[in-house]
Amino acid sequence: MRVTVKTLLEKKKKKEKAVLLTAYDYTLARIEDEEGIDVILVGDSVGMVLLGYEDTIPVTMEEMLVFLKAVRRGVERAMVVADMPFLSYQVSCEEAVRNAGRFLKEGADAVKLEGGREVLDKIKALINSGIPVMGHLGLNPQWVRQWGGYRRFGKTEKERKKIMEDALLLQDAGVFSIILESVSPSLAKEITEKLEIPVYGIGSGPHCDGQILVVHDILGFSPHIPSHAKVYVNLLEEARRAVRKYIEEVKGGVYPEEKDS
Ligand code: KIV
Repeated sequence: MRVTVKTLLEKKKKKEKAVLLTAYDYTLARIEDEEGIDVILVGDSVGMVLLGYEDTIPVTMEEMLVFLKAVRRGVERAMVVADMPFLSYQVSCEEAVRNAGRFLKEGADAVKLEGGREVLDKIKALINSGIPVMGHLGLNPQWVRQWGGYRRFGKTEKERKKIMEDALLLQDAGVFSIILESVSPSLAKEITEKLEIPVYGIGSGPHCDGQILVVHDILGFSPHIPSHAKVYVNLLEEARRAVRKYIEEVKGGVYPEEKDS
């Protein structure tokens, strides 16, 4: 059965954790789907993980669409969420709806965008157009140049109040779930308990309704692995070893056996 907004809500009611992971290509998306991941996010983290950008700011709609379409072809059961890249929704409600609509036409089940009250009008415009929206609060990587770096959120009372208020505003606007990134675990717990919609954490402790991580981080295949990610296999090291072995064998004249006929 396909995972829908309703499935995720029911999981929260039953206190069943949902498992979310990013994917950017057909092969990994297919593995994740077949192994039972609930939500696959085509994250704009692709900019750093696969495209070699310094942060997520340069990522474009056209780039995201290529990765979304590849993921869509590999997924039958999981919900596919497309991340709205920087400048695809900030300028106007009209642009936000047009870009999110493109994602839905190309196979996304929902879109995610960063921010609270600052982008509430855009979130409402999407929801009024029938587009399911996932919110993203706490550390919003698209704002990182303004903040001057990555950090934990919810350390001060003022910041805790703002994040809680934003979470409630987003819920009232009709988002179907919220991601909390690098939020103090105690605040993440409070928000998860207060909200009726599912709340998923990344670097925000164990109390949310589920967790999302970047797939290349858990596979040990990212250029920079953040401290909140558990690494389940060191693919970077395995890949280096395989490439070194290949170089050695080709130089040494060791080739796969080929028959003439
Ligand atoms: O782009 C992304 O991968 C994300 C997750 C880190 C939540 O937004």
